[in-house]
Amino acid sequence: MILIFIVLILIVYFTYQKINSTGNWPNVIGTTYHVPFGDVPAMQACLDGHYLLNLNTKLGKPQVYRIWVGPTPVLLLAHPDAVRQFWQQHDETSIERVVHLGWSLLLIMGEGIGFKTYRNRNRINRFFHACFGIKQVKYFETSYEYQIDLVMQRLQSRVIDACDTPLDVSSQFRYLALDAGLDMFLGTKSSRYLSQLHELVDELAVVMLATFNARYVNIPGLRWFIPYTYYLRSKILTLRHKWNNLLRIIMNEYLREDNIEIDADGDSILVRYLRMERIGRKKEITYEELSDTMIEGLLAPSDGIAATVANTLILLALNPEAQIEARERILNRLPPGIEKTVTLTDLDHLDHLDHILLECQRLLPLFVFNVPELTSCKMTLCGVTVPKETMVMYDVQTLNRCEDIWPKPMIFQPERFQLLNEKQRKALHGFGNGRSRRCLGENFVHSLHKLLIARILLAYQLEPVDNERDIDKLSRIRRPFIYVPRVVLKFIPIKN
Ligand code: HEM
Repeated sequence: MILIFIVLILIVYFTYQKINSTGNWPNVIGTTYHVPFGDVPAMQACLDGHYLLNLNTKLGKPQVYRIWVGPTPVLLLAHPDAVRQFWQQHDETSIERVVHLGWSLLLIMGEGIGFKTYRNRNRINRFFHACFGIKQVKYFETSYEYQIDLVMQRLQSRVIDACDTPLDVSSQFRYLALDAGLDMFLGTKSSRYLSQLHELVDELAVVMLATFNARYVNIPGLRWFIPYTYYLRSKILTLRHKWNNLLRIIMNEYLREDNIEIDADGDSILVRYLRMERIGRKKEITYEELSDTMIEGLLAPSDGIAATVANTLILLALNPEAQIEARERILNRLPPGIEKTVTLTDLDHLDHLDHILLECQRLLPLFVFNVPELTSCKMTLCGVTVPKETMVMYDVQTLNRCEDIWPKPMIFQPERFQLLNEKQRKALHGFGNGRSRRCLGENFVHSLHKLLIARILLAYQLEPVDNERDIDKLSRIRRPFIYVPRVVLKFIPIKN
């Protein structure tokens, strides 16, 4: 018995030493490995999303440093030089970005484009790029305008009811992404299923959070002995079942139409798919790829868009001069009297509004780390040499506050984006950073954000409530991978 015990202790000791040695890269500093999940529990427990930012400060602000995601050592890039050096050496086409995100996330939307291996992604790229390209996104501008009209009407009645007191608008933008994207994804026939779609957004947020928080259920072998695995699996399958049922119902509505074969500008993604099926053209994507990419692009981003809008409103409220400046720039472009009905065409080429989005993403990034990359070769980054297939991630907040490239980083200054140098461009990670993998919703998010902010600025001057002036102390709700702030602000109507 004693012998077995000693053997077990020796096995544990040598396994621990072996794991530790995998991250023992010369010159690197970082955290020590804690069995079994490394830094993951601390990251999950950190409610303000500042785990990496604080860790980097604690370690003395190194340009690169190491953390542990489970037993895997990860090199964090915390300086734009490290990012630049990484992309100079990394060839994303020669290595698969196989990221072990856990069976539960794969079960939710594993056939979506964001989960695809490089080769498979290339196969379905053409279809989805056509669906989300600038021309397509532009075609649906009236849908976004209509939804933003509705948001503004709701806001106006809430402002009237609030009578100059601060207003909690945290929930106002919850379904904006879905409502505005509906015509582009599923076409106009889907609007009658809006409440079911809202329910799906809520259910997805719940299972995504459970997925993100689950740790032991992701350990191969062990998971089958944990009752929670079965609970989570049944929740996910129920959600997928509901979504696929609804998608089939909407599909059938279009299939009853005669003219589905005829190409038309502004066909929804769903109609494009159905036409491809009906005319028997070589299939560019499968049903699962369509369904899962819709979960990824239509249902999942709701919280992300809501948080982005919330972050922008907070930062604008904290910077009254920036509001005045932006408002003047908009008004200079508009014929008088159209403040309440301003359209995206009116705002064409008004880059300042895009710069506001970039500055908000810099100061309050939605994703504090990126989807990890695996190094395609042995490489040296800021003096630390790592072997091929080392996991590399960005410490996005530290990068975004780096004084070397963002002078006075804590000051809100959209103008800094007027002329970006190469280092700044490479350090930005709002919508992804690789050459091929970027957010497909970028054009859509820009349009939605631009119009909403213009409408709000033309109608209101925003003021913060007194005790919430420090952006690092904002109260937030943690959603699966992001932090959604509470937005309590004063909306002072502008007298035109
Ligand atoms: C403010 C909102 C959003 C932000 C900040 C955002 C940001 C990102 C980021 C950082 C990535 C990872 C890129 C990478 O792998 O390096 C990504 C991927 C993706 N996003 Fe978004 N996103 C947003 C909203 C949307 C919307 C509305 C859609 C759909 C219209 C969308 C569709 C996608 C898809 C399909 C991918 C996977 C791309 C791929 O790997 O091929 N996103 N997004």
